[in-house]
Amino acid sequence: MPSRIPLVMDVDTGTDDAVCIAAATLCGETIELIGIGAVCGNVEIEKTARNTLDLVDFLGCDAPVHVGAAKPLARPLATAVSHGTSGLGDVMLPAARRGFAEGGVTELIHKAARRHAGTLEILAVGPLTNIATALTERPELPSVIKRITFMGGALRGGNMTLASEFNLHCDPEAARIVFESGCALTMVGLDVTLKPELPRHVFDRIGAASGPQADVVARVLDFMMRRKDEFGADDPNLHDVIALAAIVKPSLFTFESYYVHLETGGEITRGMTIADFNNVSKRPPNALVAVDIDADGFWNWFVDLFGAER
Ligand code: BDR
Ligand code: CA
Repeated sequence: MPSRIPLVMDVDTGTDDAVCIAAATLCGETIELIGIGAVCGNVEIEKTARNTLDLVDFLGCDAPVHVGAAKPLARPLATAVSHGTSGLGDVMLPAARRGFAEGGVTELIHKAARRHAGTLEILAVGPLTNIATALTERPELPSVIKRITFMGGALRGGNMTLASEFNLHCDPEAARIVFESGCALTMVGLDVTLKPELPRHVFDRIGAASGPQADVVARVLDFMMRRKDEFGADDPNLHDVIALAAIVKPSLFTFESYYVHLETGGEITRGMTIADFNNVSKRPPNALVAVDIDADGFWNWFVDLFGAER
């Protein structure tokens, strides 16, 4: 069996973060989930951390959960609206029977990187505050972390402004640090996360599958469907789990390498990712960018993962 990828996740749970975490706990053949950091974003840190801990405990996953940043590096937190007040829509989970792990997210990443030097990967699916903080506090990290894959940005369009995506718009200063860190980066942005629209048959199949992961994902998807139908809110896009798929099933994607500039200011450009398509900057690429996805292949992977009937 090929060796598994040691993985630290960083999340702002969050409905689609919950789907991503549930999926990650089913990827044990490919990844070894070392620990999870929580960051503020979709909702406040008290909620993202609590949602994450309750969720992993409910799923029977013993990965430690560390509490990270309560606010972006240089700005007040502006939370999202589409995940409801709790962050998990109307999905209720029993309170975890354990507490948060000691130490912050920098410590989690630092210890994991020491133990898995050269092989540790990070999956960040919230604002990049915790990751930027770790890279700043531990400048050796870019040379020992194998890759950071993050959900964020877009080569084209946005979902917060015309040009910027939520995670990077929330903490652009942190995103700038990550883009300029020298770490190997994979950017999984709206270019690919908006493509797989949840098909009705996938919704029905997950609903009919068994196990705690399918149970919680079915409830999250149900909330997402109603959020769209009842409140006219976002389509049920599963952004974060698509970034997980870029790690465990990269063959589903087309990637291109670019130097990507992260814009921190501007009325609509705050958090915008600008790729140097014409090599104007003469700077080497700093990110592998997912530019296309096999959407049918993605849904097949997703359905199989949860043990649902095809
Ligand atoms: C990203 O923003 C959050 O609301 C989602 O969880 C996802 O990480 C999509 O723009
Ligand atoms: Ca998220």
